[in-house]
Amino acid sequence: MQIVDIDFCGIEDLDVLYAVECACFASPWKRYMLESDLQDLGGVVYLKAVAGGGIIAGYGVLSRNDRDSHLQNLAVLPEYRRLGVASQLMIGFDEISEEWGCMRMCLEVRVSNKIARDFYAKIGFSYHSISIGYYADGEDALNLTAKIPLRVGESLG
Ligand SMILES: CC(C)(COP(=O)(O)OP(=O)(O)OC[C@H]1O[C@@H](n2cnc3c(N)ncnc32)[C@H](O)[C@@H]1OP(=O)(O)O)[C@@H](O)C(=O)NCCC(=O)NCCS
Repeated sequence: MQIVDIDFCGIEDLDVLYAVECACFASPWKRYMLESDLQDLGGVVYLKAVAGGGIIAGYGVLSRNDRDSHLQNLAVLPEYRRLGVASQLMIGFDEISEEWGCMRMCLEVRVSNKIARDFYAKIGFSYHSISIGYYADGEDALNLTAKIPLRVGESLG
């Protein structure tokens, strides 16, 4: 069952998206970065997952690089996890990638982020390469890729 509606974000969502970001990451994106993106959505797409009462339960960010789309961010509030919210966001990003004519989606994930790695594996991502010391705190990133269309939505009711 779909518990959220997926929609595009705008600058009016800035404060809530920043709150979601801070609730989800030890090293959240800076507010000014979100603000800058949302003021000029030329190169990126922000999608939000809106639950009952208008609550933004999660959001994600996608950009385009030639024939690849690139998932820049994905975050779901702790109290909304394991309900298919991230999967719904990825269905939206899958559709946008197809519209862009992309053959592949790429992303980086922390080596230590087993939950996210399990999530991405389930929807079709596999290992491509490793970026040593990619994050500001020195942690390595796994570079994952998946063919478009993603294997997402198959298990959602
Ligand atoms: C990773 C994250 C986005 C997943 O969001 P979510 O809405 O809970 O994901 P979904 O409910 O769509 O999960 C789909 C599937 O992914 C896998 N999965 C998700 N969370 C999992 C967990 N905690 N443990 C194991 N598998 C998990 C499961 O296979 C799940 O299907 P199931 O619930 O039917 O078993 C969320 O945990 C999150 O925001 N984490 C913190 C931020 C983060 O790490 N973002 C990724 C940055 S690269």
